[in-house]
Amino acid sequence: MQKHVLIIAGDGIGPEVTQVGKQVLDKVAQKFGHTFTYDEALIGHAAIDATGNPLPNETITKANAADAILFGAVGHPKYDNDPSAPVRPEQGLLGIRKALGLYANLRPIKLFDELLSASSIRPEILRGADILFFRELTGDVYFGEKVRSADRNTASDLMVYERYEVERIAVKAFEAARTRRKKLCSVDKANVLESSRLWREVVQDVAKRYPDIEVEHQFVDAAAMLLIKDPKRFDVVVTGNLFGDILTDEASQIAGSMGMLASASVGDKIGLYEPIHGSAHDITGKGIANPLASVLSVALLLDISFGMKVEAETVINAVDKVLKAGYRTRDIADSATDTAMILNTEQMGQQLLTALA
Ligand code: IPM
Ligand code: MG
Repeated sequence: MQKHVLIIAGDGIGPEVTQVGKQVLDKVAQKFGHTFTYDEALIGHAAIDATGNPLPNETITKANAADAILFGAVGHPKYDNDPSAPVRPEQGLLGIRKALGLYANLRPIKLFDELLSASSIRPEILRGADILFFRELTGDVYFGEKVRSADRNTASDLMVYERYEVERIAVKAFEAARTRRKKLCSVDKANVLESSRLWREVVQDVAKRYPDIEVEHQFVDAAAMLLIKDPKRFDVVVTGNLFGDILTDEASQIAGSMGMLASASVGDKIGLYEPIHGSAHDITGKGIANPLASVLSVALLLDISFGMKVEAETVINAVDKVLKAGYRTRDIADSATDTAMILNTEQMGQQLLTALA
């Protein structure tokens, strides 16, 4: 098959980990006789530096011409401590999600057995946990009206959902539950928020079309607690943009490290694949970032956008093989790891390519 991939590496460790993701794509192409062509585009701080705009038009044009997007990260510490900066790297990411209609963000939380001891949660609680999050990605407080009063002393972000926005993400989550353990948990804050009451009402409506799926509703505070207490009780979880952002960082600990979690942002057309970790400026340029989230994002890309199930499986197996052989990046090593087995980003990439070959 011939496919065109847009690489948007972004900021911080984005370029370092995306480089490994691309090498894996090339290896897959070689192994399975596909042709992948590439283009690159700017976003975030890198784009502000070059053009003054965190999301140049050219990036959207290139995105629309691609079959899929492999994404790195956005962010820069200088903005984190400057809340008044009007132009921010994150606007690039939110902008591209909106512009491409990427309303569903899939975040699979699956623990590789070899990493049981890398998590701060006890192994017996974790073993067997396998959760698929559907985070709504183009609504909620992220995109509702933002107001700052003239005297600058009052601020608000509107938490707003429309029925169709909840319905389309719910449908995607129910469909996925059908291919899994047939359980769906919808997370909201319907005891307090009107937008959550709409959310719950719509999910209850959609549930009528899926009588084969066992549905439960949890408030977000309880869900946050249950995720750590008993992660195995969850199968598919569907939730709004803000709650999903927070809960999936929490859930990354179930997979051992943020450095392991991949995500797929999809809508009706093109898909964008990215690690859930951010730009990680504390380790940028040191070459020690864990590239596995980017590599697992490549697996999602192959599976979802290209329909290449076997190829995707091969990539996941290569990750498994490298971990089984004992190789670790720093973030997933523990006190028992032999320092000789702790690899930098590039070395981890090499091990993956060997495992794929
Ligand atoms: C994520 C990130 C982004 C978000 C930031 C970088 C804007 O945390 O993808 O989870 O909040 O959505
Ligand atoms: Mg986040």
